[in-house]
Amino acid sequence: MYSRIPQAFIDEVIGRTDIVELIDSRITLKKKGKEYAACCPFHNEKTASFTVSPEKQFYHCFGCGAHGTALGFLMEYERLDFIEAVEVLAQQHGLEVPKDNNSFIKNDFQPLYILLEQANTYFQKSLRKHQHAINYLKDRGVSGEIAAQYNLGYAEDGFENLLKQFDSAATQEQLIEIGLIKKNDKGGIYDRFRNRIIFPIKDRRGRVIGFGGRAIDDAVPKYLNSPETPVFHKSEALYGLYEARKAKQTARSLIVVEGYMDVVALAQHGIENVVATLGTATTSQHIQNLYRCTQEIVFCFDGDRAGRDAAWRAAQQTIPLFKDGLEAKFLFLPQGEDPDSLIRSRGKEIFLQYINEGDSLATFIFSKLSEDIDIRSPSGKARLAQLAKPLLEKFPNGVFKQLIFEELEKKVGAPIDYTSTSLTRPKPANVTSNKVTPVRLAVAALLHQPSLALEVDSIDFLHENQIAGVPLLSKIIQIWKQQPELTHAALIERFRDQPEEQQIQKLMSWDPPEMADPQATLQDALVWIQRKTQSSRVQELIDKQNTDGLNEDERQEFKNLLHQKAS
Ligand code: GTP
Ligand code: MN
Repeated sequence: MYSRIPQAFIDEVIGRTDIVELIDSRITLKKKGKEYAACCPFHNEKTASFTVSPEKQFYHCFGCGAHGTALGFLMEYERLDFIEAVEVLAQQHGLEVPKDNNSFIKNDFQPLYILLEQANTYFQKSLRKHQHAINYLKDRGVSGEIAAQYNLGYAEDGFENLLKQFDSAATQEQLIEIGLIKKNDKGGIYDRFRNRIIFPIKDRRGRVIGFGGRAIDDAVPKYLNSPETPVFHKSEALYGLYEARKAKQTARSLIVVEGYMDVVALAQHGIENVVATLGTATTSQHIQNLYRCTQEIVFCFDGDRAGRDAAWRAAQQTIPLFKDGLEAKFLFLPQGEDPDSLIRSRGKEIFLQYINEGDSLATFIFSKLSEDIDIRSPSGKARLAQLAKPLLEKFPNGVFKQLIFEELEKKVGAPIDYTSTSLTRPKPANVTSNKVTPVRLAVAALLHQPSLALEVDSIDFLHENQIAGVPLLSKIIQIWKQQPELTHAALIERFRDQPEEQQIQKLMSWDPPEMADPQATLQDALVWIQRKTQSSRVQELIDKQNTDGLNEDERQEFKNLLHQKAS
């Protein structure tokens, strides 16, 4: 359970966060009355049904029913788990997440992250001290400003620079774990990166997870990466993603290139929405990470055979993830050029023109599949259908899938039988309307006007009550009585992983006509609950009287109840 992060800390983090600001930095919100609106990031839509309430610190989509607090948003949007989401918010406010049980946060890599960051700082300082390293970057057209933006560094020549810098045995053990120090067969240890320009690789949150190093002489290999470590996985990491997201051009598109230097060179020319894979093929994980940050991926490959093969692999990984509303483009550079050389020789405008002229995913798929086929002949057409069908079946159901099959039918001039796609999206299960019951009305009234909790005097009759929803109502009243300053979002976080979580979140954005007067609605509901509680107790006592008989206390209680009922 999550409760091991002290509730007070979660209150604090939620209290300091402005959900409008948090969401607005990821998707642009427009003010609409008291709330803010945008097209929902969790489903495809043309009209804005996603709303954010600054007052409740809560978001809700009328289209797909998505809803939650700032923490919930981070978890959904950035696919973080709860702890990670708390960490992100805590970090933003300069707070440290207290742990009252260390074993609970499994795999605590904090010390590794700290060390990676320290090494990063050390490399950057060392760059400033070594003119020949600075000159190397200058010769490649990298300014001091861009070097600083990407935190470029330099690992000095020699086998023990980092070793001497971090000379405790425990630290050296950790340096081995993060791959900065290597062990040789005889048990000796030495620096991995020597006389290399250092490119720190960060995760989406900006934490350094590993490094790439470019030799500045003709050492082999030309590029060296950190090895796989507990925090560094090459098949997922993307160089430059953090910086690209910071530059905020990612909303439009993200360009995927092959080299570190390509990322840096494009940034140098004002194209900052660029990331690089780390010398590996594009994986499904990469693509998922990218689509989490943008709607369009532009794959930029060499124009040679190897580049086309790499692009084809990337396309195949993209297909199953290609939901309606997403875009992918494939761009092939002239032979012998990479983005770095192209932008330096031809400039930004020409480079952008290349991007504009890239193939769409559909175009690329059909041109690739038709490569060795004469599609004018009937047998060629049949062959194309045979090759394309299993591949196109892998697209997620939706409009795009239907259209691309229609295009295939046009190309082969015959109908093709494919798994039918439904265009009407089923309504998500959680958009059921709330049935109007007095208890729901009471909860909604409190959510509309939390200060009402202070006006409820006695809630004894709510305790141990069997009526559905009353335990939730009673908890809300208690919490807000004790801490009237608590925001809606903090209140909701109290119910995370509790049975009432769904119910309270659904009621957050419920706005039946009764909410015109929340005070009266709450009052009526409480009266109803009290009456209902009394009559069930009366029935209970009558049943008992007819079976076991009543004892003295019960007889008295029965009398009182009948008296109250009459009054
Ligand atoms: P520059 O020569 O500095 O312009 O680099 P480049 O990006 O043009 O290099 P290249 O196209 O050769 O390589 C692209 C990417 O592949 C690099 O950024 C590295 O991630 C990776 N890479 C290239 N050479 C090596 C190598 O020798 N070893 C490893 N592990 N990766 C390499
Ligand atoms: Mn290059």
